[in-house]
Amino acid sequence: MRVAVIGGTGLVGRHVVDVLRATGHDPVAVSRGSGVDVSTGAGLDDALAGAAAVVDAVSFEAADRAAAERFFSAATENLLAAEQRAGVGHHVLLSIVGLDRVEGNPHYAGKRIQEALVSDGAIPWTIVAATQFFDFGAQLAGWTRTGDAAVVPPLLVRPVAVADVAGLLAEVAVGKPLGRTVQIAGPETHDLVDMARRTLDARGEAVRLIASWDDSPLGVEMAGNVLLPDDGARIAPTTFETWLAAQRG
Ligand SMILES: NC(=O)c1ccc[n+]([C@@H]2O[C@H](COP(=O)([O-])OP(=O)(O)OC[C@H]3O[C@@H](n4cnc5c(N)ncnc54)[C@H](OP(=O)(O)O)[C@@H]3O)[C@@H](O)[C@H]2O)c1
Repeated sequence: MRVAVIGGTGLVGRHVVDVLRATGHDPVAVSRGSGVDVSTGAGLDDALAGAAAVVDAVSFEAADRAAAERFFSAATENLLAAEQRAGVGHHVLLSIVGLDRVEGNPHYAGKRIQEALVSDGAIPWTIVAATQFFDFGAQLAGWTRTGDAAVVPPLLVRPVAVADVAGLLAEVAVGKPLGRTVQIAGPETHDLVDMARRTLDARGEAVRLIASWDDSPLGVEMAGNVLLPDDGARIAPTTFETWLAAQRG
């Protein structure tokens, strides 16, 4: 089955492409690097030719809420319109668990618009909502690092392996549209500061971590169980410890 993977060169998208290929399907990796810009629609008609399904794993680092909303609405409208022209039968969107419980985060605001356009749209759909990826603690420390110190908020997460999320996206894409959201989370709950510390240690990076909500890009509205999955979420098998061992090389 031909499946176009939007953001097919990204962290998640390239794993989706690999899984689809390994299971005998025909993935097409779509990105600006392959001449397609979903924010304008340029190149989309050619990229979707012959595709039975689309996985949207695109991402965008927004400076503010307005920019995030602009990007995700334009990209999703362009994508759904091109899918209709190409006769695509299933749109699979990668989203995030807990979007509706977090008002202030710009990325989440953009993703909410993306979800609404997909679920109200004409193309049969499935949304796969994932919790934070295992790398998220270290990634956040990278964003806030000044000198040898970085701020990481004491956020409770149920992190998941990117490879497990990609496996579910590929499985869903070659199946029938569900018209609902499927959540995926990892097997254990962790503290983000501890995850960041252990990841940076494993990579041999000496960074002094400051556990605080102040000067953090994440708001305190994400504290407690806000980002944890609901009952019925798919629980992925890979543990943080297994992933960490691979980081040590
Ligand atoms: N990080 C987490 O913990 C987490 C958790 C749950 C869900 N998610 C979701 O996962 C999704 C994917 O994240 P990721 O980390 O895999 O992203 P990523 O590594 O930044 O990859 C983004 C992909 O999108 C492509 N892209 C960006 N702008 C584009 C444009 N205008 N037109 C066409 N392609 C474009 C990029 O390629 P080019 O640059 O070549 O265009 C790249 O292939 C995001 O939507 C995010 O919300 C993340």
